[in-house]
Amino acid sequence: MASLFPALRFGGDYNPEQWPREVWDEDVALMRGAGVTTATVGVFSWALLEPRDGEFDFEWLDDILDRLHEGGIRVILATATASPPAWLVRAHPEMLPVDVDGITLGFGSRQSYSPSSAAYREHAVRLVERIAERYGAHPALEAWHINNEYGCHVARSYDAESADAFRAWLEKRYGTIEELNRAWGTAFWSQHYGRFDEIDVPRTMPTFGNPTQLLDFERFSSDALLGLYLAELEVLRRVTPDVPITTNFMGFFAEVDYWKWAQHVDFVTDDSYPDPADPDSYVLAAATRDLMRSLRGGQPWLLMEQAPSAVNWRADNSAKAPGAHRAHSLQAIGRGSDGVLHFQWRQSQAGAEKFHSAMVPHAGPDSRVHREIQALGAELAGMQGVIGEEVSASVGIVFSWDSLWANRQHATPSSIDYLEHVLDWYRPFLDRGVATDFVGVDSDLSTYRILVVASLVSAPDEFLDRLEAWVAAGGTLVVGHQSGILDQDLHARLGGYLGALRGALGVRVEEFAPAGGRNVPLTGELDGHGQGWQEFVLVDSAEVVARFGDGLATGHPALTRRDHGDGVGWYLATRPDAELAARLVSRVLEETGVEALIETPTPGVEAVERGAIRFVINHGDIPRTVLVAGEELTLDAHGASLRPRR
Ligand code: GLA
Repeated sequence: MASLFPALRFGGDYNPEQWPREVWDEDVALMRGAGVTTATVGVFSWALLEPRDGEFDFEWLDDILDRLHEGGIRVILATATASPPAWLVRAHPEMLPVDVDGITLGFGSRQSYSPSSAAYREHAVRLVERIAERYGAHPALEAWHINNEYGCHVARSYDAESADAFRAWLEKRYGTIEELNRAWGTAFWSQHYGRFDEIDVPRTMPTFGNPTQLLDFERFSSDALLGLYLAELEVLRRVTPDVPITTNFMGFFAEVDYWKWAQHVDFVTDDSYPDPADPDSYVLAAATRDLMRSLRGGQPWLLMEQAPSAVNWRADNSAKAPGAHRAHSLQAIGRGSDGVLHFQWRQSQAGAEKFHSAMVPHAGPDSRVHREIQALGAELAGMQGVIGEEVSASVGIVFSWDSLWANRQHATPSSIDYLEHVLDWYRPFLDRGVATDFVGVDSDLSTYRILVVASLVSAPDEFLDRLEAWVAAGGTLVVGHQSGILDQDLHARLGGYLGALRGALGVRVEEFAPAGGRNVPLTGELDGHGQGWQEFVLVDSAEVVARFGDGLATGHPALTRRDHGDGVGWYLATRPDAELAARLVSRVLEETGVEALIETPTPGVEAVERGAIRFVINHGDIPRTVLVAGEELTLDAHGASLRPRR
């Protein structure tokens, strides 16, 4: 697969409007010295580009783009719509978002718009058209960056326009009110609707809301933001058909369905801020890189933002240890990113993010952070054999925003942090140096040898049927507890849970028996512990590999395995602790012959291959000696070794 870029990208968000022009010359010179290829400009520039309704001032942006171009720096130009100006909000106060309790969120920070606001959309689209016309042919332009982190602060709004848009969305989805009543199960609690205009957004209610209404509001809200993105996209495609377009994602961000969004970007970009104080944060970071790569079927993506050191928005904003920033950057490259960009180039002197680290910190270029940035820029400039290359993975882990949304509802068998449950399974593959993709319910399954499904509470029949057929054709499927319980309308599957997976697994789930947060031992061929959860499993045709050794389900099957067609279906009726997950994953790797780069997991150490390079990275703060594919390597604390791939 080719890259969109001629070389790995290096740079960051650049907000020159916060500085006098004398500083701009120094910026360009410092960028060149640091190996910066790319600056993302204009993300929050609306108020300066359009100081009054319909009056535009592009002089300063012309000037900085020309200077960057002269300096050989390419520009990812933002459409500047992320933060609407005060005059627009004054003129259209109805555009302000309203929270679930009916409180209007005031002006003075950013993202002050309801995703369904017509006034916001009209003005945003007009601005984008002007920017596209003016800069579409600018020689510095490398790509468009639409808006910024859609939904980061305001992903759900309960204003009047949102309520109207929700009703229209429902009418489009269901066609008739009878169909909506069926899908929402409104025979329950006298919720039957006679007409679409009787329906409201799910505001704060006396008690549990209708689950399908809640889920549809999540889907609608994701689509409402996507609609805004598509409105800008339409303008850019029309005016500048040849310029690549993206918007920056936020990893496993819970509020929008990136499987859907990713179809509409030319390349995926991500903003990533692992907590330097958390020794395990590299795990979620690795998973996030893998998700970004997976969203467009393995296409290289781009790390759009990360902090060179501390952020300013945690309770404790730890600085990155020496080397840690390089380690995280190499992780992104190794897992499919064609570059490393940051938030931001020069640390702000004023405003809400002045304590957020930057490539040029308050202390200036003569600083540890800037020296590490310079070294990283130089290293990326010299890195051969990686750009545009794919990471090949024969393991897929299912991730579904519908299941995330269904799992975070109330009145469920137990509260589940869906992402944590997915990561329970991701971790043992990471520890063994086995590349893993994420898979959505619409993804092609044919390239995988192992698939894992964890707490997929809600799924369409069609996906469960495809999984079953994939197993029959030779795949090895591992299904974790609380999966296949509900259909896509959140109606329970009858006759024992698991739906069409029953065929592949040879079991049904009769009843849940939550273990109140207690660990429950498993006894049998593959022992270990389950966490806080048991199910009564009925075995139709499967081998019982382990049984529960304690709790209400003592003696009942906990782990089963079935040969199904040419493949194998495993079912685990509890949440595995780390040891159990590791054992089961090792067993599955052995049985399938999927290769692992690491035999003995070492905390903090990961290994991944991309193109010509094997990336071995130690995120821990002590040195480690590890055996990777038979080669012994000693890594410093936060050190990385880039080995030629054999
Ligand atoms: C996100 C935003 C940036 C900035 C950083 C701070 O990435 O896109 O504008 O607020 O967070 O971490």
